[in-house]
Amino acid sequence: MNLKSEILKLKEQKDVLVLAHNYQLPEVQDVADYVGDSLGLSRQAAKTNHKTILFCGVHFMAETAAIICPDKKVLIPDISAGCSLADTINAEQVRKWKSDHPSAVTVGYVNTSAEVKAELDYCCTSSNAVNVVKSIPTDTEILFLPDMFLGSYVAKMTDRKNMYIWAGECHVHAGIRPQEVQEKLMRYSNAEFLVHPECSCTSSVMYDVACGDYGDRQVQILSTEGMMNHAKNSNGKTFVVATETGILYRMKKQNPEKEFIPMSDSAVCKYMKMITLDKVYLSLKEEKYEVKVQKNIAQRAHLAIERMLAIS
Ligand code: 13P
Ligand code: SF4
Repeated sequence: MNLKSEILKLKEQKDVLVLAHNYQLPEVQDVADYVGDSLGLSRQAAKTNHKTILFCGVHFMAETAAIICPDKKVLIPDISAGCSLADTINAEQVRKWKSDHPSAVTVGYVNTSAEVKAELDYCCTSSNAVNVVKSIPTDTEILFLPDMFLGSYVAKMTDRKNMYIWAGECHVHAGIRPQEVQEKLMRYSNAEFLVHPECSCTSSVMYDVACGDYGDRQVQILSTEGMMNHAKNSNGKTFVVATETGILYRMKKQNPEKEFIPMSDSAVCKYMKMITLDKVYLSLKEEKYEVKVQKNIAQRAHLAIERMLAIS
């Protein structure tokens, strides 16, 4: 059986929109209708007319789609595809934090569970976190969760002194060490550097680079889709990419004349890689696993997500 053609047939027959995150396996990206970052995928979910969405990504992403589209069926090929960053905070911890700062506004990254989102004022992704924080009056305290590297990057970019940041991290991005960055900076002197704001190096080494401390080196701190756009539009020929290595497939496919080098070969998200082509096929065939969010949680989380979708 040719899995790819069976998948394409089934998604047509069953009127399914297949969304895949930039970190998905190449063969999974190739059967998707849309490949993108968290914000782009949420936007696609929000505007689709398809009856069913098959989400090739991790659980919080499928959950976000289920909240945005309560009348659609949202499927994920492996229900246990989690996220180490989302797991760093639960709703009880957010409530406790908020009670310690009753006048603060709570901003949470999309990498959170639906229960946590229900406690937020604003949701954001790596592509609009700076603009979401900028939209909040400067004299209002902010609780930012759960990623400390994204949080400190946003605080620096917005010059915010009244932002409290949760000490969470993504094991994949936190694992890209400043030493690896230094080594690549030395080795690829003509390359452009594309860095995800979840990286542990973002708030230290790369911020210095962005401020010009490394001369005229080209360094961009970007969401995964921001990286894709930059790779396409830049005149550069070589790019060192600091994020999960799955994105390199799409970068190479869209820009065959350019060279892409991973900042770290070990930046691989085991949760994203749980979504295999076999599981995509079974998911479509057997319509499993459906991701559902309790109505009262979904209603509360929806407001924060809508605010995220409104700010680019
Ligand atoms: P993006 O929103 O930039 O795609 O990031 C999502 C994510 O999980 C990063 O690890
Ligand atoms: Fe979560 Fe990190 Fe995997 Fe992204 S790369 S899904 S933040 S564990």
